[in-house]
Amino acid sequence: MEVKKAVIPAAGLGTRFLPVTKSVPKEILPIVDKPTIQYIIEEIVASGIEDILIITGRNKEIIINHFDQVPELEFNLKIKGKNAELKMVQDITDMANIFTVRQGEAKGLGHAVLCAKEFVGDEPFAVILGDDIVYNHDNPALKQMIRVFNEHQTSVLGVQTVPHEDVSKYGIVQGKELSDYVYSVEDLVEKPSIEDAPSDLAILGRYIITPDIFEILEHTGKGAGGEIQLTDGLRRLAKRQKMVAYDFAGRRYDVGDKLGFLEATVEYGLRTPGLETKFKEYLKNLDLS
Ligand code: G1P
Repeated sequence: MEVKKAVIPAAGLGTRFLPVTKSVPKEILPIVDKPTIQYIIEEIVASGIEDILIITGRNKEIIINHFDQVPELEFNLKIKGKNAELKMVQDITDMANIFTVRQGEAKGLGHAVLCAKEFVGDEPFAVILGDDIVYNHDNPALKQMIRVFNEHQTSVLGVQTVPHEDVSKYGIVQGKELSDYVYSVEDLVEKPSIEDAPSDLAILGRYIITPDIFEILEHTGKGAGGEIQLTDGLRRLAKRQKMVAYDFAGRRYDVGDKLGFLEATVEYGLRTPGLETKFKEYLKNLDLS
């Protein structure tokens, strides 16, 4: 089986970024000049997947608009001869086939993924969370995971080691090393306490999942935080069939967190052609006294 579809849950309320998320979805907040969700979609496309489902909710229309044509803007850029800008704008529309479904009620990540059942059908699929942006210029994190899926033909969780004091922010994997960077998943726990965490291997917003998850999610009740948790569904799936975790290579940013967002902004700023030299100079000379 091949991974041909990806799902991006984007129905969350973005409470960690209030007040701006009162009116602007967090997925649209820019890192330098690109909305965070565009980085996610570019990673998916660079990994060879073109059919992408975005799970949205109230006040999220602007996300979808970003991937539509804007005829008056394109006309304007054309008559002004701004060809590079015109191509940039058009490329965003041509990049992928974007589909949407609405999650009527924010009942948790597991419930959001269940909303993708009709779109996915009976195939393995990728899930990428918008809070986790991973920079790997040569080999996108999802592409690395697809390689692991192709080898093992079973669900793959994208993980990295996090500082022990941070384990309660994540789904944590208990695994046994199978080969370099690949673990067999023996158990999973969503946001454990520091004392109960079975390891420091955290799921960082990237999954390839077999379609068997849907039937399980249909019967998964509320878990941590009173929400239907994807991790709880995956835990049951791991008891039924082999599941692996893959420690992917790349610099990961938690852009759902203010500090992580600022780190991403600074580091992507330093990677932006035409901006990097002056921005570096500015940072070197920064003195707020
Ligand atoms: C979600 C998942 C969690 C995962 C995390 C990665 O949590 O439930 O298992 O480790 O994303 O960012 P959230 O950050 O939405 O609370």
